[in-house]
Amino acid sequence: MSRTATAIAPSNIALIKYWGLRNESLLVPYNASISMTLSRSRTRTTVEFDPDANGIEVWIGSDDGPQEAPDGFSRRVEEHVHKIAERFDVSGGFSVWTENTFPASAGLASSASGFAALAVATCGALGHPVTGSEAPPLVLLGGSGSAARSLAGGYVQWPSRNLRDKIEVVAPRDHWVLADVIAVVESAPKEVSSLEGHRRAPSSPHFGRRLELLPARSEVVRRAIQQRDFERLSKAVEEEALELHLIAMSCRPRIMYWRPGTLEVLARVRELNEDGVPCCFTMDAGPNVHVLCEPDDEGTIAEALSDLPVVETVIRDQTGHGARFQDDS
Ligand code: DP6
Repeated sequence: MSRTATAIAPSNIALIKYWGLRNESLLVPYNASISMTLSRSRTRTTVEFDPDANGIEVWIGSDDGPQEAPDGFSRRVEEHVHKIAERFDVSGGFSVWTENTFPASAGLASSASGFAALAVATCGALGHPVTGSEAPPLVLLGGSGSAARSLAGGYVQWPSRNLRDKIEVVAPRDHWVLADVIAVVESAPKEVSSLEGHRRAPSSPHFGRRLELLPARSEVVRRAIQQRDFERLSKAVEEEALELHLIAMSCRPRIMYWRPGTLEVLARVRELNEDGVPCCFTMDAGPNVHVLCEPDDEGTIAEALSDLPVVETVIRDQTGHGARFQDDS
């Protein structure tokens, strides 16, 4: 008899970035990363497992109904599902339906929410609804390190201080809800994948210095979160975002994720600061800018960013809860 489970997992925005893999096959990063889990940008995935069947079908939700997933995407899903099934020593057939709640065309990373939702739903469908510390290793089998952080809500570190396949909650969601106003300046998929970026990072002449600076910066971020100190958080988060892109721009071959619109948004953030609106920027491996602020300032910032002709869309998100099963599954 087949069994079905549905999971919902949020995306996250890294405050301290994961950039560079010490060991690719074991997914060991050079440094621990810290992110804020989001609430509106989510993936919902349903997995059906039939022990008497074979193979895998993957469907993606779209405005025109479910579409068969493109080959590359299907292959990654298939590999992840099979690795999880192997861990539980089971075999059979799978159907996977997945959809993002944020606009597919927004050019936002969906792999963190996608692989977290896939792992949680697959485990559920296999009859092993894992929670807590058992879950991160199963999520990491998908190859996306940032996905492990989406398992928990609030502010999350991966790897935890002493275990590479565990996460640590720096502070839960209700400790400090911040807004994340995302200015989308380009919605096309990024030219160089994060995996390729991780591979090239150590070739930057600045990478070694980054690793020396990171422990102190990470500590500042952890403390700023614990003390709800937005000013200290802002300084460290902006420094970190610029350093990620410094490494990308100086590795070999170099990677340029920024677009002219990226710089326009950064300039607007500075003007807002000068006008007395506390906010700070960060970017992942792409041209779009996440502007963090206290919820009271969100409206002003969203309006200021929407007014820029370079901004295609503004998405208003905030600190959220971690991955979970959908109630009816
Ligand atoms: C720049 O290998 O987790 O976003 O699989 O594309 O989500 P995806 O990437 P992953 O690397 C994330 C790189 C980053 C920084 C971060 O989220 O820590």
